[in-house]
Amino acid sequence: MTITSIKKSKGVKPLVMITAYDALFAKLLEPSSDMILVGDSLNMSFAGRDDTLSATLEQMIYHTNAVCKGAENSFIICDMPFGTYINKNVALENSIKVFQETDAHAIKIEGGEDKADIIKYLCSNSIAVCGHIGLLPQSVRGDGGYKIKGKTKEGRLQLIKDAKAVEEAGAFCMVLEGVKADVAAEITASVNIPVIGIGAGVDVDGQVLVFSDMLGLFEAFTPKFVKKYIDGASLVKSAVQNYSDEVKNREFPKEEHTY
Ligand code: KIV
Repeated sequence: MTITSIKKSKGVKPLVMITAYDALFAKLLEPSSDMILVGDSLNMSFAGRDDTLSATLEQMIYHTNAVCKGAENSFIICDMPFGTYINKNVALENSIKVFQETDAHAIKIEGGEDKADIIKYLCSNSIAVCGHIGLLPQSVRGDGGYKIKGKTKEGRLQLIKDAKAVEEAGAFCMVLEGVKADVAAEITASVNIPVIGIGAGVDVDGQVLVFSDMLGLFEAFTPKFVKKYIDGASLVKSAVQNYSDEVKNREFPKEEHTY
């Protein structure tokens, strides 16, 4: 995929985005995805923290390099962590660092109308930007929890303003998180760039899921919008239990595993 083909997909075919944090999984996910997001959700599912806020730019660069190595043919987006795009200059300095130190094709930042100036400045300096509107995980402490957006008329109109502002600022696509399906459909119809939903229903231009959620590996909690395509946690636990039993019973290694 390229920015041009991603933009051209709108109204033609749904886009598949998935997160990855390392080379091993990136290689496995690459054949079935259009874009790989190195999400700051890695701070929760990889680093075991309660939210995404303590992810650092250095961590994101480290994981983005691993993903780029594992999925050399993929379109890769690096999520800018909390506090790394508080104004135009900070955002540009940090985005340049990501572009110079990794092979990521784009960065993602959370925010709508309030971040339009920053998105515009990044785009005018050759940084490709994926927006992220609706429920913003980096605002979870400020908002007092994870709250579905666009439930009131004002909230819905603000989301449409946000989507238009992100598009006008030059983003090539945007993530739309945690909004009711009818609102998501209205937002998707109001812009000409792809809207990638997560917890936003089916009437959007594509979907994104966190890989450890959809593979059933993350057990701490499962949001309503997640479908577990396999029960990864049970599979892993039972495989490791098997290994443990075989070691204890001296059934492993067998002759075929021995020099
Ligand atoms: O960090 C992340 O994985 C994300 C997705 C949930 C869109 O931002």
